[in-house]
Formats: sequence, structure tokens, C-alpha cells
Amino acid sequence: MNQAKIIDGNAVAAEVRATVAARVATLKEAGGPTPGLAVVLVGADPASQVYVRNKNKRAVEVGMNSFEHFLPAETTEQDLLTLVERLNLDHRVHGILVQLPLPKQIDAQKVLESIHPAKDVDGFHPFNVGRLVTGGAALVPCTPLGCLLLLKRELGNLSGKRAIVLGRSNIVGKPMAQLLLRESATVTIAHSRTQDLPGECRRADIVVAAVGRPEMVRGDWIKPGATVIDVGINRVPAAEEGKTRLVGDVAFAEAATVAGAITPVPGGVGPMTIAILLRNAVEACCRLHDLPFEEVL
Ligand code: GUN
Repeated sequence: MNQAKIIDGNAVAAEVRATVAARVATLKEAGGPTPGLAVVLVGADPASQVYVRNKNKRAVEVGMNSFEHFLPAETTEQDLLTLVERLNLDHRVHGILVQLPLPKQIDAQKVLESIHPAKDVDGFHPFNVGRLVTGGAALVPCTPLGCLLLLKRELGNLSGKRAIVLGRSNIVGKPMAQLLLRESATVTIAHSRTQDLPGECRRADIVVAAVGRPEMVRGDWIKPGATVIDVGINRVPAAEEGKTRLVGDVAFAEAATVAGAITPVPGGVGPMTIAILLRNAVEACCRLHDLPFEEVL
């Protein structure tokens, strides 16, 4: 029986972090800037707290300066905007990330648009979104860029390949589709209203699933030999009473009997996101200081 190659996101992410660490060291040795990353968390959502601490830990590991800002859940929009403005002006800070989701009294879009585009390591500012679409230098959202690096390592040139992106979020689906288009793939964006989703999927050489529905993509939706990138992280009840486990948006065991290569959950796309965030912080730092930036993989 076919058994897909399992793409080791932990290993690739470790490689990215090692390259980032080397770049940071080179910058420092040359007497240049130390890249600085500021992460802002509003409220005490436990998953976000874990995630933010992890970002800071990884930033310090690669030699960057890390600035953590933990604000209470009842923070006003104006207070958050004031903090972002302070970080925009802080020369030690090259990357600013405001963790989403934000509490409902805060207009998230307004906050994202207040981040200086040159420090927007999430790539969510309309300036960077526009640059991604029209061409030109842009900071690109971390998760889709991580997916793209995995795909290019696996497949090399993506030109002319049929790709389908399941999901149309601003964080993953839409930027993912633009990145694939930039690589000259033929791109379909599928979503909750798409007709014959299995049929659309079966035509694709590349499937990127980012819908947040546990194991929605079945084995018989996959074209034999296709490359499957699973962005989903869904917690579901485990066989054992009271326990939970993480699954992706793809039914992994089924899909692995058909696909050419597939990312697991956990250990696939997940670790890439923070690695790319560090990459983006180095890119932001280099561009802010008019220094050359070389791709990390
Ligand atoms: N929440 C979930 N994913 C992300 C992300 O990539 N960036 C930010 N800022 N918040 C998130």
C-alpha cells in the first residue's frame, strides 16, 4: 500500500531557526542592530499565553531582543493603540505582533492598521497585503509562508501545478493563495459554499487545508501522489475517557495512503509559524536598516 512521505515540520523549523540565529549573530558581529521582536497579548486566554511565551523563548534562543507586553482583558482600544505607537517609535523594536483574537471592545483591524508596515511581522497590514498581491517587497503572514517553504522543499518549482486552498481567512487562506499564485501555480480557493469540494480537491497536485474542521478532508478527496499541507489544529475527544488529542483538517491515516507527501498534526505546519516569525523579524530589521536580506531556506 502507498505510504506518503511524512513532512517533518519540526526538523525544517529547526533549520530555519538555526539559519536565523546565524544571521542574527552576523548582524551583531558586524556591530549592526540586534533584531528586536515585541509581542503584545491582551487578556489571559491560556492557549494564547502558551503561544506568546513560546514566541519569546524562541526569539531569545536565536539571539534576538524580545519584548513582552501582557495587558489585562479590559484594556481599552486607545491604550492598545498608544502602546503600538510607542513600539512603532522604539528603535530597538523591529517587529511588532499583536496576538489575535483581541477582546471585543477592541477593533482588531484598527489595531493591525496602526502597526507600522515596516514592523508588521505578521504581514496583516493592508500595505503588506497589497504588496503581496501586486508584487514588491512585503512582509508575508507567517503560517502561509511556512507552508510555502515546506511545499518548495518538497516539490521544487511549483509553476503550473494545480493547487487548492481550503479556507479563505485573512491569516492563512487568502495569503496562501496569493503566495501560490506568485509561484505560478494554478490556484483554486475553496470555502464553505464551494460545490463538489471532494471533486475540486481531487484535481489538485497541492492541497492546503485551513478550515478548522477536524478531519474534514478524506482520503478519497486526494489525488494520488498529491502533496498535502494540513494547517488545522483541532482538539477532539480521545478514545480514552476524559482525554483529548489534536487532529488536523485532514484525515491523516486515510490521506497518507494516497498522497505523495503530507504534513502531520502536530509536528507539521505548527512549528513553522514561529520559525517564520523570527525570519520575518530579521527581514524587518534588515530592511529598516537598509541591509541586504537573504532568504533563509
Ligand atoms: N492568532 C492565531 N494565529 C495568529 C498569528 O499568526 N498572528 C497573530 N498575531 N495572532 C494569531
